[in-house]
Amino acid sequence: MTTSILITGGAGYIGSHTLLEFLAAGYRPIVVDNFGNSSPEVLRRVEKLAGAPVRWHEGDIRDAQLLDSLFEQARRDGAPVDCVVHFAGLKAVGDSVAEPLEYYDNNVHGSIVLLKAMDRAQVKRIVFSSSATVYGEPVSLPYTESHRLAPANPYGQTKAMVETILADWCQAGAGRTAVNLRYFNPIGAHPSGTIGEAPRGRPNNLFPYITQVAVGKREKLSIFGRDYPTVDGTGVRDYLHVSDLAVGHVKAVEYAQATPGWVAFNLGTGRGTSVLELVHTFEAVTGKKVPYEFLDRRPGDLAGMWADPSAANEKLGWRATRTVEDMCRDGWCWQSGNPDGYV
Ligand code: NAD
Ligand code: UD1
Repeated sequence: MTTSILITGGAGYIGSHTLLEFLAAGYRPIVVDNFGNSSPEVLRRVEKLAGAPVRWHEGDIRDAQLLDSLFEQARRDGAPVDCVVHFAGLKAVGDSVAEPLEYYDNNVHGSIVLLKAMDRAQVKRIVFSSSATVYGEPVSLPYTESHRLAPANPYGQTKAMVETILADWCQAGAGRTAVNLRYFNPIGAHPSGTIGEAPRGRPNNLFPYITQVAVGKREKLSIFGRDYPTVDGTGVRDYLHVSDLAVGHVKAVEYAQATPGWVAFNLGTGRGTSVLELVHTFEAVTGKKVPYEFLDRRPGDLAGMWADPSAANEKLGWRATRTVEDMCRDGWCWQSGNPDGYV
């Protein structure tokens, strides 16, 4: 039987790259997005890249009637939704501390509304965008999926809560499947440079800040902390190419179709890179200078963290293949060709 997949937040940074991979793999995706942090232009560009139309609906996942109508429409079109890939949510840690209720409402309540609609439509599979932030202060590194969960801010709490809700939901009904993907630090862009990360306002994260300095939109990078117990005193993270991460979702849907129950996978490369290493690699690959200054540590930051991705390697058959050089080259291709993002 022909089936569809519903992608919530499919116009966002990771969602758009994943949408492209699903189209390339022959799936029939349907996107729902409220464009709160994205724009329909993203979907037009995905259509061009894929050479295929994209089915999309503007709306909010907290709108139960909208979700019911999307599931019903797919059924009437002869390709009922088989799996939901759930990206929609808010993701800025600082905002989540300032506006916790917005975060619990969008990320947790939104997920509950979605699961209830899935129940009504008898959709039993979901792939959820979780985060390495659920682990908190490392007891040991690399993090494995059994590392204790201790999120340090409301954003991280919403991810841990939804994971728990999904575990209880799976427990309560036969055949239900929830694949929780704990992303490490996705950066870069599709190699075409046509789609990429387009943060609104001042970027919170390191890589888009670097590219905005390189393109002349910001004067210099502030490096938060130079006294961490790391290779050069700056923070270490597990950066992975967003297109590798996107492929992980196709593998996760295949896995969900074969294996019922709740499961969590780290999606990372297993390698740490410091802030200075990333800056120097970016400069070497692009030939652009990135002026920087050192500031104090950013409150709440960890010294270092990276993944043990072996469970995803073995059980999903997924492995990150692109290098930090690839991430820098492709991220620069996007930023230099689109200095103002999708505007
Ligand atoms: P993004 O903001 O680019 O994408 C999220 C998309 O969801 C946006 O298009 C936004 O408009 C949409 N959206 C938000 N709330 C919605 C709602 N209530 N109804 C409908 N649409 C809604 O973010 P991203 O970087 O692509 O992240 C996608 C997911 O992955 C998020 O859940 C995020 O928390 C998670 N995640 C991201 C990272 C990262 O580094 N980018 C790391 C770990 C986890
Ligand atoms: C942040 C979030 C995390 C989220 C992840 C990916 C925090 C505390 N955590 O993680 O929840 O899952 O983004 O979206 O915000 N850095 C600078 N200068 C900058 C920006 C960052 O030096 O302008 C440093 C940081 O101190 C850190 C590294 O760069 O050492 C990476 O930072 P960032 O890209 O914000 O990612 P995380 O802190 O890992």
